[in-house]
Amino acid sequence: MSRGGFEEIIALHHGPSGLRGFLALHDTSAGAAYGGIRRWQYQDERRALLDCMRLARSMTHKCALAGIEAGGAKLVLIDHAGLDLPAAYRHIGQVVERCAGRFYTGPDVGTGPEELGWVAEGTGNVTDPGPEGPGDLAEATSAGVFAGMEAALRHLDGEEDWSRRRVVIQGLGAVGGRLAQRLRERGASVVAAEIESDRALQLAAELELELAEPGSELDQRCDIFSPCAMGGVVHDVTLKRMQCRIVAGGANNILARPVHGDRLHEQGVLYLPDVVINAGALIRGAGFHMDSTMASVPEIEKRIADTSARILALSEAESSPPMRVAEAEAERLLEERRGWVRS
Ligand code: NAI
Repeated sequence: MSRGGFEEIIALHHGPSGLRGFLALHDTSAGAAYGGIRRWQYQDERRALLDCMRLARSMTHKCALAGIEAGGAKLVLIDHAGLDLPAAYRHIGQVVERCAGRFYTGPDVGTGPEELGWVAEGTGNVTDPGPEGPGDLAEATSAGVFAGMEAALRHLDGEEDWSRRRVVIQGLGAVGGRLAQRLRERGASVVAAEIESDRALQLAAELELELAEPGSELDQRCDIFSPCAMGGVVHDVTLKRMQCRIVAGGANNILARPVHGDRLHEQGVLYLPDVVINAGALIRGAGFHMDSTMASVPEIEKRIADTSARILALSEAESSPPMRVAEAEAERLLEERRGWVRS
């Protein structure tokens, strides 16, 4: 925990609702820490804590790279059969409120508008999913991922004629579904894998997607592989199966470990880091809370396209994987910022 530079980590337990989980506040040196609530059936508490810490630290890097004067946090809630959802989320609202403005929270896997409504009963420091809030955050995220994909194509091929491109999406949820729609509107062929078969069939019919059996998507030859479900998708085994030229997705922490970014680079696969391209919701949400502004979709696309192009140019100039360049750049920006705070 100290090696990762964490400011505070809180273990959560609430007997009446069955809530167990963690809140990691990675860095509030520049302002409040932002991070959503993830509900997931973790195998054990150790895995939940590690996920919470990795996600919180990534949020700090995401803020730095997106030029947002804020830090990173995450709250994970361990899902299990006995969990009383409304009571657990209401308790989380009280936890957020006790952080007294150091922590702002919002959606993530397993936490949507209904759950956020329960949190909002106890605190105002949560994304309002209604008309008074910052709007469709998943749309903001998918717009940024799309802009990152275009930057990657321009970097490799000098153009982004989508009608010649085939994209494989893993996970057709809030982000993946919107991304599939955008890609289809631009004429790309889209292959998708989704474990909820009703959702998969419905979106495939609506958007004319080709469906792949979940688990087989990695074997598909394509221009871009886009993980939009859970993290840790790129690891020792999957690396050998990948048939793509670019990895660019909405999921947080796509690499199981940083070394897998090096391996992708060695294999000639361009991996555009998630901390660079999935910042759309953060840009929209943090701006909304911090100064009541509402970044538009074109503004988000431009900001993420510019950052992506800068990271890719640096990566080429330094012959270093984009993931390493992004990490160094985030650390440099954070040091610069901490210098301002100290002086
Ligand atoms: P979601 O829960 O709406 O969608 C995830 C989808 O992936 C679900 O439909 C689920 O059934 C599917 N799925 C899960 N495991 C799968 C597998 N192995 N193969 C195929 N499909 C699988 O979540 P959302 O909001 O779309 O987020 C997706 C990812 O993007 C997460 O990692 C999240 O942390 C990240 N993210 C989301 C943001 C947002 O604005 N919603 C912002 C930044 C990151």
